[in-house]
Amino acid sequence: MREYQKSVIVTKEEIATAVNGLAKQLNDKYKGKEVIAIGLLKGAFVFMADVIRQLDIDVQVEFLIVKSYKNGKTNGKPQIVLDLKKGITEKNIVIFEDIIDTGRTLAAVKEYLKYKGAKDVEIATLLTKPSKREVAVDIDYSLFTIPNEIVVGYGLDYNEYGRQFANIISLNDAGIEELKE
Ligand code: IMP
Ligand code: MG
Repeated sequence: MREYQKSVIVTKEEIATAVNGLAKQLNDKYKGKEVIAIGLLKGAFVFMADVIRQLDIDVQVEFLIVKSYKNGKTNGKPQIVLDLKKGITEKNIVIFEDIIDTGRTLAAVKEYLKYKGAKDVEIATLLTKPSKREVAVDIDYSLFTIPNEIVVGYGLDYNEYGRQFANIISLNDAGIEELKE
């Protein structure tokens, strides 16, 4: 199961501490207000589930699926393949993302949510890989900055491998090759 692990990038303990901190910030900022948490599937499902269970504000949950990746590479054109179930006009939105790489996914999603009439859109990302950025994005909450490696675990995958790991790990060359689709 773990033969493709190169190294541990973020431990589950580090994640838990950072998730607590983020929940505190959101509880302060949105005290007395309504917020819609929008998780970008599938990668953000574990992260968002952990954060929202520590919120004591009025929060609703929605999901979007945006796809552009295969074999760890983006085709540069994110597509929305699962849409929101309810309108978001005049709502406060916090987007939950697993990792920001080129920035193209979030740039597209933010533009889409503004177009749908959101009042305010904030971005919370578990990880960021700044060395790969192609499009500038304003990130409101970013928990960990990581090197330019393919990582899996805590919801993140490489061709669907590795979502269940509690730590975030990088993949070795054998894994990257053998798990290719
Ligand atoms: P961006 O549009 O390049 O910023 O892509 C962000 C999306 O790419 C994230 O939502 C992830 O789904 C995916 N992604 C980028 N790098 C990784 C990685 O190292 N592991 C897993 N998914 C990744
Ligand atoms: Mg994603």
